[in-house]
Amino acid sequence: MKKIFLFGNWKMNQSLRATENFAAESAAFFSERPGLKAETEICIFPPFVLIPEAVKNFTNLGVTVGAQNASDHGEGAYTGEVAPSMLKEAGCRYVIVGHSERRHIYGESSELVNKKALNCLTSGLIPVLCVGETLEERDAGRTTDVISDQLRKGVKDFPAGAAYVVAYEPVWAIGTGRAASAEDAEKVCRLIKDSVRVPVLYGGSVKPSNAAELFSRPSIDGGLIGGASLKARDFFAILKNFR
Ligand code: G3P
Repeated sequence: MKKIFLFGNWKMNQSLRATENFAAESAAFFSERPGLKAETEICIFPPFVLIPEAVKNFTNLGVTVGAQNASDHGEGAYTGEVAPSMLKEAGCRYVIVGHSERRHIYGESSELVNKKALNCLTSGLIPVLCVGETLEERDAGRTTDVISDQLRKGVKDFPAGAAYVVAYEPVWAIGTGRAASAEDAEKVCRLIKDSVRVPVLYGGSVKPSNAAELFSRPSIDGGLIGGASLKARDFFAILKNFR
């Protein structure tokens, strides 16, 4: 049975109280299904300020914590930035780089995404490199080219054997309620896996009703989940429907 990655990207949502409640509900869920932990890698990506609270509450549940972004620089005069070394010290294991919201709202290029990813690797963090095509690119039949280009540039100069994860998130599927079909997602995830041989996640409107079909495809190792990760009930329903 393959190990499933269930990654929850909280984006700019939640609070101290919500983090505590989420942990309490997670504990209740695991006590009902103790075997699940061994088969899954669960990570929550809260906003920076909630990372210490998440580490405090989730670590003893076997749930890891990640960051949604990191600086391409080390510590220094970079107002508003957070260095990977700080995230490592705070207890993070993973860092999302190149999320489409960073690429499209904040104009991050693949070159910047690559610098961030390399900086995370140097600090002992596992980058979760996001790639995905826009609707326009998809309609123009350019999905394969766009994904290959983002991937090639994103992993440039990675040392051999570097630990990282790739998340395929078609931009048109994020937050729209319209996920890619399992067949289309599998095709792109296969393309990625054939080229980099690391865990590949699908993201974009994953919910309890479509997760099982997506995650049962051979090249999809789990999901990077936005909206449905905000409530523990929905997040764990995704797992329950699958395992
Ligand atoms: O990183 C997760 C993501 O962008 C997908 O968001 O809300 O469509 O699950 P959502």
